[in-house]
Amino acid sequence: MVSMRRRCTPRTILIAFLLWLLLAVLFHLKAELWDYIDGPGYLVEEDLEITDLANGPHTPTAHTPKKRRTAVVVASQQTENATWLSAYFPDWEKNIYAVDNPAAELTVPKNKGRESMVYLTFIIDNYEDLPDNILFIHPNRYQWHNDDPDYDGLPMLRHFQIPYLEKEGYVNIRCAWSLGCPAEMKPLDEQGIHRAQVHAGGDYKQAFEVLFPEKEVPEIVGVSCCAQFAATKEKVLERPRQDYERYREWLLNTTLDDSISGRILEYSWHIIFGKEAVHCPSARECYCNVFGLCDLQCTDKSGCYGRYSLPPYSTLPYGWPFVGWHGEARNRSALEA
Ligand SMILES: *[C@@H]1O[C@H](CO)[C@@H](O)[C@H](O)[C@H]1NC(C)=O
Ligand SMILES: *[C@@H]1O[C@H](CO)[C@@H](O)[C@H](O)[C@H]1NC(C)=O
Ligand SMILES: *[C@@H]1O[C@H](CO)[C@@H](O)[C@H](O)[C@H]1NC(C)=O
Repeated sequence: MVSMRRRCTPRTILIAFLLWLLLAVLFHLKAELWDYIDGPGYLVEEDLEITDLANGPHTPTAHTPKKRRTAVVVASQQTENATWLSAYFPDWEKNIYAVDNPAAELTVPKNKGRESMVYLTFIIDNYEDLPDNILFIHPNRYQWHNDDPDYDGLPMLRHFQIPYLEKEGYVNIRCAWSLGCPAEMKPLDEQGIHRAQVHAGGDYKQAFEVLFPEKEVPEIVGVSCCAQFAATKEKVLERPRQDYERYREWLLNTTLDDSISGRILEYSWHIIFGKEAVHCPSARECYCNVFGLCDLQCTDKSGCYGRYSLPPYSTLPYGWPFVGWHGEARNRSALEA
């Protein structure tokens, strides 16, 4: 009895309790460590299987963002050749429209207004399922308006900065100011004046009022020339499909010559996609942002050394870039890419 009573003193009870506590903590710790070492892989796999069953097709990569689709939309004539795009840009979706072949798989309701009929038809027909990044370009690899020392579209497109496009929504694929910047047209001053066959200033105001009924006609319009640009799906969708249908209807209706109606749209795309009427970033900034060429020496805002000079004729000689303007042998000015 005496011994029993001694064992049951408050001190022994406390010690017993502390011992029990220690054992409990050790047991718990062991279980935790065991789980930590052997558990997670198994648990995560099982979690995923459960998610799979609940949500249908679902892989672990579903957590990484979906790869964005990039597409080219090309306004081609039968005499032109866009096969180089497939050879060099296999991952891009190709939408090569044959404007002068009504039987072609991709064609236009009417061959009118140059490339603009193609660009609008693509947007209208694909409005519900647009690619994420869309480059609107001309077919031939070598053409005078490509912003490259050899007028070569390959390095131009290889350098094109898709992330910058995704940030901006609309990007003109040309930086040199020669033709188009800083002021191609003065729609108010030039209204009704037809100073040259290819100049659209005289007809721009009237067209603008149909194309953009919600906007005031700008005093000056400027963007670097030639209607090769890119837009994101999000930017295109900022306008309802009816807007693009109205632009195309205007093109189908107009009695203006193609050189003029095409040019009016050439100098409207940047406005359609939300830029100011004068959209002329300095060449230095533009080459860096658009093509990742950031260490160029630039003359002034309008151009940088070794990049682009207006050619003497708009048709490149046969054999270019290895045959020059006067039939002489020529080397490329720059590497292919
Ligand atoms: C188009 O150009 C490629 C080279 O890029 C050439 O192999 C092919 O024969 C050309 N096609 C036509 C129809 O000229
Ligand atoms: C095109 O012409 C039709 C018929 O004259 C006219 O009703 C329509 O408003 C015109 N559309 C545009 C965009 O000019
Ligand atoms: C082209 O480059 C090669 C190799 O550098 C050179 O031998 C040749 O003279 C150059 N041709 C012309 C026309 O500049």
